[in-house]
Amino acid sequence: MDDLKGRDLLSMTDLSADETLTLLQLAADLKQGNIKPICRKTLGLLFYKASTRTRVSFFVAMSQLGGQVIDLNVSAMQIGRGEPLADTARVLDRYLDVLAIRTFAHADVETYAKYARMPIINALTDLEHPCQVLADLQTVQECFGQLAGLKLAYLGDGNNMAHSLMLACATVGMDMAIACPPNFTPDPQIVERARSIASSNGTQIIVTQSPQEAVSQAQVVYTDVWASMGQEAQSDTRVPVFEPYQVNRELLTLADPNSIVLHCLPAHRGEEITDDVLEGSRSRVWDQAENRMHAQKALLVSVLGTD
Ligand code: CP
Ligand code: NVA
Repeated sequence: MDDLKGRDLLSMTDLSADETLTLLQLAADLKQGNIKPICRKTLGLLFYKASTRTRVSFFVAMSQLGGQVIDLNVSAMQIGRGEPLADTARVLDRYLDVLAIRTFAHADVETYAKYARMPIINALTDLEHPCQVLADLQTVQECFGQLAGLKLAYLGDGNNMAHSLMLACATVGMDMAIACPPNFTPDPQIVERARSIASSNGTQIIVTQSPQEAVSQAQVVYTDVWASMGQEAQSDTRVPVFEPYQVNRELLTLADPNSIVLHCLPAHRGEEITDDVLEGSRSRVWDQAENRMHAQKALLVSVLGTD
């Protein structure tokens, strides 16, 4: 897809509805085994936080496309000794063709994108997780054959997942209701942006304290951990606050009878989701995790171009 060649993916707002749908079609084709080679290109992975799915799926995606991957070890780089990001970005730009970064401050991926000419991919920041959401949309489309017109309910923390899902749902014409405790609502600027996109697409972004209201008639029920990476010290104090927002069998009785359950993983069984729901018939979390690889393969092909 020439439109995306050379472009960064820092936020879901970097993709229009058409670009998102084209990426999802390409991901579906690639899942069927239609390989588009991108030989002689190198992907760098620069991860300041732990990762299983994102790191491994990027590695396998690039390898299957015929490209190479360097898993950069932040602690072995000069960044830790104070080399500025702007300098690191310009140096890595001379070696690599594309760089996926997982870090804390969203401003850091923006700095890399400012100073490197190669595409920079946000592999999770405290603000957004767009790569996850591409796989989520792919999974929803596989299950329902459509995106527009569906309702996604998100329960829990108004975090990076909530932000990227909100922006994506608004873009592709899905309604989204997010239920979270009063002090854990999503970033108001992101809500405002999502609502402005949603209003031009005739969809709704609702923020509520009521998990029942959010889940009502939803086709997709989504949750994420109550304490994200970097918030581990708050885990114990967060549990009682978030308990009413647990995705469990009782709550799911309010959703659409054909609803599916998604979780970006890793999951904390007994906290944000019960074991029986995660392992139950509505759960699509393993397909969702697999789709990380297909969606990212589509993204890599699109930002790098094929040989
Ligand atoms: N969902 C997700 O991004 O998983 P990892 O943290 O394992 O990459
Ligand atoms: N909100 C979680 C997502 C993990 C994939 C975190 O940032 O830790």
